[in-house]
Amino acid sequence: MRTVEEPTGISRLETELVKYHIVRRIGRGGFGEVYRAKKRETGQPVAIKVYDGKSSQEAGFEEFMQYLVFPREIFNHPGLVRTLDAGHVDGAPYTVMEWADGPCMEDLIKNHRLTWAHVKHTFSQLLRTLDHLNAHGIVHGDVSPANIVGQKLVDYDAMRFDPHYSMKVIGSPGYMAPEEMVGFKTHTTDVYHACAILYDALFGRLPDTIHDPTRANEPGAILRQLTKRTNISIPPNAPLQDRVLWQAIFENGMKADPFERLDAKSLRYAIRLAIDKEIAAGSHIIVPQYGSIAA
Ligand SMILES: Nc1ncnc2c1ncn2[C@@H]1O[C@H](COP(=O)(O)OP(=O)(O)O)[C@@H](O)[C@H]1O
Ligand SMILES: [Mg+2]
Repeated sequence: MRTVEEPTGISRLETELVKYHIVRRIGRGGFGEVYRAKKRETGQPVAIKVYDGKSSQEAGFEEFMQYLVFPREIFNHPGLVRTLDAGHVDGAPYTVMEWADGPCMEDLIKNHRLTWAHVKHTFSQLLRTLDHLNAHGIVHGDVSPANIVGQKLVDYDAMRFDPHYSMKVIGSPGYMAPEEMVGFKTHTTDVYHACAILYDALFGRLPDTIHDPTRANEPGAILRQLTKRTNISIPPNAPLQDRVLWQAIFENGMKADPFERLDAKSLRYAIRLAIDKEIAAGSHIIVPQYGSIAA
């Protein structure tokens, strides 16, 4: 029988991090927990990520926190959040970040709550942010719907200098590019992810050619994934204004060879053009078109 009330995770955290008032837990992911909090002194909203003890003891954990060594000015960008504080609580590492306001792309896609205007604005900002990172020689490494919050790209645990190899394949299953199957990431890996998210937002599912890391252990799977042809078709029933342009966007943004892919700047230009045509034709809400893909 428990005689003394054990402090809950939140009050325990508040005892340790006295500068912050913890509002609520917002997520539990692969590496730990994320809380919404407020800086007591100023009322500034922040996100606190506490890495669980197990992952922080793993060899290579310091690598996860590597983004903390990037020059701080890089994070002074409207599409990124700044890290305000970092340390250890009960032996577990934590980081305090600026709070990103707005709905998460994952929820918007799930609930089909997307307008062309929102997609244009969000992908414009995302690709501008990727271009900014690329200009500083950095790859985000895990661009996914859960990591796009409002107009900001969060979660820098996979961030590295571009290009790089890693023995550990980190990323979000479902969005991984072919080169990631062998642990390689470069700036166009982020572009590939952005295109996969856009495809999902528009058509309600991922392209057939997406690479599946969960199958990487099957015999011959890596070779198959690496040599897969890029044949990203858009659903034949999707009511799009300029199908040729959309087709070109997905084919060139998701080329199997990362060095043949569009960069973030060109992709941003093409996407804005394509969406402007949709808006000019009077469509506002995106209705995902499922259905078969033409061979
Ligand atoms: N700075 C932030 N502002 C607002 N929400 C955030 C912030 N950082 C993370 N989140 C939310 O918490 C979730 C988990 O955080 P994340 O850093 O992505 O951890 P994980 O390692 O679990 O993917 C994100 O998907 C996002 O919804
Ligand atoms: Mg994440």
